[in-house]
This record gives sequence, C-alpha cells and structure tokens, in this order.
Amino acid sequence: AKLVILISGRGSNMQSIVNAIQADKLNAEVAAVISNRPDAAGLDFARDAGITSETLDHKNFASREAFDQQLMDLIDKFEPNYVVLAGFMRILSAAFVQHYANRLINIHPSLLPKFKGMHTHKRAIEAGESEHGASVHFVTEELDAGPVILQAKVPVLEADTEETLAARVLVEEHKLYPDALRLLIEQHQS
Ligand code: GRF
Repeated sequence: AKLVILISGRGSNMQSIVNAIQADKLNAEVAAVISNRPDAAGLDFARDAGITSETLDHKNFASREAFDQQLMDLIDKFEPNYVVLAGFMRILSAAFVQHYANRLINIHPSLLPKFKGMHTHKRAIEAGESEHGASVHFVTEELDAGPVILQAKVPVLEADTEETLAARVLVEEHKLYPDALRLLIEQHQS
C-alpha cells in the first residue's frame, strides 16, 4: 500500500511507521512526507531516509479552502492508498475529508470518544481518569469523531504530570500506528 504522511512538527509517529516498513513489519511504502511547516523536524528525518519530502506552508494561502485544494493536488500526484495524519496540526475542510473518504487516517492522543481536541493529557489528569491512551481513527468531517480502528491504553499514575503522561502515551502511539495500518492494509489484500 502506498502512503502519504502529513506532519507539522517532530514527526515521531511518521518515524515509527517508516521504521516498521524498514523492519518488514508493515507492507507499505511512504511515497511522500508533506509538512505544512517548513521548520518541521520530521522533514530532516524523512530526507535522511531518502523519502520524498515536500513543504506546503499554509501561511502562503489566503483561505483554508485554497490551502486544502493545493494540498489535495500535491497528495494526488503520489496516488496514495492512504493519507496518514501524524501530528498534522491543521483542521481539514469538508472538501478535503470527502475527497479522501475511507482512506484518511489520524492518530489522536486519547481514548476516543473521550477528550477530542487539544490538551488531552492535561484534561485526562484533571478529570481524574485512571486510564488514558491513544486512538487511530478514520477522519470524518466532525473533529476526532470518525470510526476508531485501534486503541492503546496506559494507566494514569498518581504522580503524573501532563509531560509524564504524554511520554507514556507516545511510547504506545509508536506501536499503535503501525499496528493499525497493518490491520487496514491486510484487510484490503485478502
Ligand atoms: C502525537 O502525540 C499525536 O498523537 C498528536 O501530536 C503528537 C505528534 O507527535 N496529535 P509527532 O509529531 O508524531 O512526534
């Protein structure tokens, strides 16, 4: 399966997918990594791994719709089976989401449907949750509300801060995203 991965920053989830492919644990190829931020650290990793890397800076566009249209044109050149959002910090328009219906995937750092949106770790601690985690899900027009493909859970500990909890969840994210993609890809092969 061909993947295009969208990032905005560190790109550690993108790296975990690339690593899984290189270790023959995921039957896929990354056709391109695209960032909306020119300074995203993940772009360096992708370039070093020999992966086609592109930047499309949203600041150069007058509207969300104009940016999304250009992004679609760029993505479609690579003819991906799946468009994988990995720390991509932009809300996507309805036209974009519809264009990639059933092949647009995201990872969200909470046990959806709990804690949609931002600051999930802080909110989980404040809500007194004993369990927290991450979800890989299909993207639909409603933010963080599409069908869940796979989740990973971690305990919330008494001494947790936002940072320690985020780090515990991130370790699981790095296993979860390749696992979820494998599930999708294997289903479509048989
Ligand atoms: C991850 O925790 C992801 O779930 C969230 O933003 C973070 C991105 O990290 N949406 P990275 O860029 O993949 O390292």
